[in-house]
Amino acid sequence: MAEQRSSQWYAGTDRNAYIHRAWMRRGLPSHAFDGRPHIAIANTASDLTPCNAHFTEVAESVKQGVYEAGGIPLNLPVVSLGETLVRPTAMLWRNMAAMATEELLRANPIDGVVLLGGCDKTIPALLMAAASVDLPAVVLPGGPMLTGTFRGQALGCGTDVWRLSEEVRAGKLSEAQFLKSESSMIRSRGHCNTMGTASTMALVAEALGTTMPGIAGTPAADSRLLEGAHETGRLAVEMVAEGRRPSNLLTRGSFLNAIVALAAVGGSTNAVVHLLAIAGRLGVELTQDDFDRTGSGIGLLVDLQPAGRFLMEDFHRAGGLLAVLAEVRDLLDPTALTVTGKPLVDYLDDAAIWDREVIRVRAEPLQANAGIAVLYGNLAPGGAVVKPAAASPELLNHRGRALVFDSIEDMHARIDDPELDVDADSVLVLRGCGPKGYPGMPEVANLPLPAKLLRHGVRDMVRICDGRMSGTAYGTVVLHVSPEAAAGGPLALVRTGDFIILDVAARRLDIDIPAEELAARTPSAASVDAYANPSRGWERLYVQTVQQANTGADLDFLMGSSGHQVSRESH
Ligand code: FES
Repeated sequence: MAEQRSSQWYAGTDRNAYIHRAWMRRGLPSHAFDGRPHIAIANTASDLTPCNAHFTEVAESVKQGVYEAGGIPLNLPVVSLGETLVRPTAMLWRNMAAMATEELLRANPIDGVVLLGGCDKTIPALLMAAASVDLPAVVLPGGPMLTGTFRGQALGCGTDVWRLSEEVRAGKLSEAQFLKSESSMIRSRGHCNTMGTASTMALVAEALGTTMPGIAGTPAADSRLLEGAHETGRLAVEMVAEGRRPSNLLTRGSFLNAIVALAAVGGSTNAVVHLLAIAGRLGVELTQDDFDRTGSGIGLLVDLQPAGRFLMEDFHRAGGLLAVLAEVRDLLDPTALTVTGKPLVDYLDDAAIWDREVIRVRAEPLQANAGIAVLYGNLAPGGAVVKPAAASPELLNHRGRALVFDSIEDMHARIDDPELDVDADSVLVLRGCGPKGYPGMPEVANLPLPAKLLRHGVRDMVRICDGRMSGTAYGTVVLHVSPEAAAGGPLALVRTGDFIILDVAARRLDIDIPAEELAARTPSAASVDAYANPSRGWERLYVQTVQQANTGADLDFLMGSSGHQVSRESH
């Protein structure tokens, strides 16, 4: 048996090896220390991350697989982020979760790791950590929830919350009915069942090659998830034996494959910042423009909310990601490997679409050219992102008068004011929501429409923001504007009444004022005042070192890798 990393702790007859073994002998027999691989299960289970609350059972199946393959499984609880509960936004803590997990993996006697994630930030944080510690690592996505129904109709969690709350504000649904839908929204264990960020990141992780092929999207309540968990445990042991690490599996081609998948499934814009951050940990060359170049011409092949009708349970039944990738096989890098050691494309031969309503053939996309577009202009010199699949086609080329909000609080205070000077052609601008400005870049870019316009039937307007948008949301929303207002971006210079030009076909986002006038402006006092400057703790470290969205919003000192070596002992 090849020497394991964990043997650096357990092998030998000296005092330290004695200590390491003795304290682990609570159920572990002597042969656990004979050089067999020790596999951590980086487990984001938490009662406060309800989407991941079932992971204890899933981890048990992983353990069985690890044991069966001759390894020793070890549960390793890591930082868990519940998207719906964590304030001020889970994104503020993604880098902290990644940093803490990386350090835990490096500090402990483990040889490989199963990354058990689900809710939005958990898979990205785990992958960032694994990339920087560079131990054999396989992602096990915890799976989406089953479809709930309300008044005979399927409910897409997230997407239908936005829709129903707008219906209430428009006077089309009573508050009592709205509240009644609450108990139908979450039918089972698992993460959001729309093509939101959690579903997207699970599928993207599979397209990257970091999961067992075919497992992403398996519903959390489906017995096949536990079977897959067992197999993932076995695979982790094999990966250690074969030395399959992120640094020798993940190439630029792997990331471009993930971008193809992201476009074809109409995935969340959040995948842009997460994939850039993971690539940054590996030193893989990847830019925001790669998302446009590689993905924007790809048709939307999946009819899932928020862009379409169906939900993840339907997607899985219809054939899942492999069926989608088989449709775009010629666009994939055939050399990109998966955690099994075989190329991703090898798994597409038997993939089939079982329901052509849910997964479309390439010749009949739900929308053409639906991938993420990256815009530049005097309002976004570092770029901004828009997802045409979630937008109103008639607004993708638009000139309108800006209505500016300096902060989320400013927006809440004024958006429903009957006197608000706004019409359907206005462009709603929300700033102070970037990585530094909020801090943490919350999902607020799809700001609500003014109630008085909702009552007149307006259902979409152009919105521009330096924050992010929930993957479950929809609308003509230009987001991730870089640099953000708090970092001195021109978004801080816009004034209510300026005309803004959005031209997605030309990839432009501009304020329609002369360059000299723009250069002479100073940032609005209110937007400067709204800038957070925390005095201590994680927020201070974050604000001082976070990068802009166009490179993944990682901390500057966390980009790159430190590997898994630890030279010093603790005793
Ligand atoms: Fe956890 Fe949506 S809230 S995935």
